[in-house]
Amino acid sequence: MSTPRITGKARLAGVLGHPVAHSLSPVLHNYWLERLGVDGAYVPLPVAPDQFVTAVRGLQAAGFRGANVTIPHKEAAFAIADEVAPMARVAGSVNTLVFGEDGRIRGSSTDGFGFLASLEAEGIDIGAVRDRGAALLLGAGGAARSIAAALMERGFSVIVTNRTATRARELVETLSQAWRDHAAGAMPALSTLPWDHPAGVPADVSLLVNTTSLGMAGGPDASWAPDLTGAADHLIVADIVYVPCETPLLEAAATRGLTAIGGLGMLLHQARPGFRAWFGAEAEVDAATVAYVSAVLKR
Ligand code: ATR
Repeated sequence: MSTPRITGKARLAGVLGHPVAHSLSPVLHNYWLERLGVDGAYVPLPVAPDQFVTAVRGLQAAGFRGANVTIPHKEAAFAIADEVAPMARVAGSVNTLVFGEDGRIRGSSTDGFGFLASLEAEGIDIGAVRDRGAALLLGAGGAARSIAAALMERGFSVIVTNRTATRARELVETLSQAWRDHAAGAMPALSTLPWDHPAGVPADVSLLVNTTSLGMAGGPDASWAPDLTGAADHLIVADIVYVPCETPLLEAAATRGLTAIGGLGMLLHQARPGFRAWFGAEAEVDAATVAYVSAVLKR
């Protein structure tokens, strides 16, 4: 018989959500645990909103190392954390809780890290992209806010465009206030652009990020792609949609000869900080990880 992987000393973590069955996190973390031979387990934790606090306290009492938090618990996660990382405050989101041995709960947001890491993994020099122009974000929801916060931390000027213009303006105002309250250093420029901007993607934009559900299979418009004719030749195009892997936006970027980055990398990289904190090992997003998760997504 082979050596048992999960023993009485196993390190434990999980994902709290409602519903949680769609979450890829258990698949991903258990893949890494198995591959690295770590004595640990990561489980789905379906928890109704009114049971969130009881569940978190219960997990702490049961010796869990921490948990990921997904819809609809992100605000509750913010509230229960004893310490929230400054950039999580700017992002307005907590998706990772780490239970300290001192009984304290530390909350952080790893989506922005995951986004930037997915670009770096493709060989993109983030500082050089920032020096070439601004980042244009399509969409004004939670994902846009997390990515905007991470880009601001790296010194990017950020432009937000959204179908509903008031949401874009609200996002800029909220981010400005949160940056002043929680971040260190000068605030990069933040602005909005009309959604139906006639020139398409302006030539002074060096990074375009789709944070909307446009282009997603089963989304509002699966064939959507913006006009890239006026875009700079060095434009990097990123999509956070990962089903399909090749969205019409990424296809349009590739046709135009631009670097195109899909959303799966962000999903995988955002899991790494939690894995390290709970299981004490370094998870790698390599070709085998991408192939494994892609195969699960296609099932
Ligand atoms: P999340 O928090 O995951 O980012 P969200 O708040 O639901 O998600 O945001 C979805 C984004 O997709 C929004 O920016 C939304 O635009 P509106 O604010 O105008 O609703 C955008 N979106 C969804 N359907 C769209 C469509 N058909 N055309 C343009 N934008 C769309």
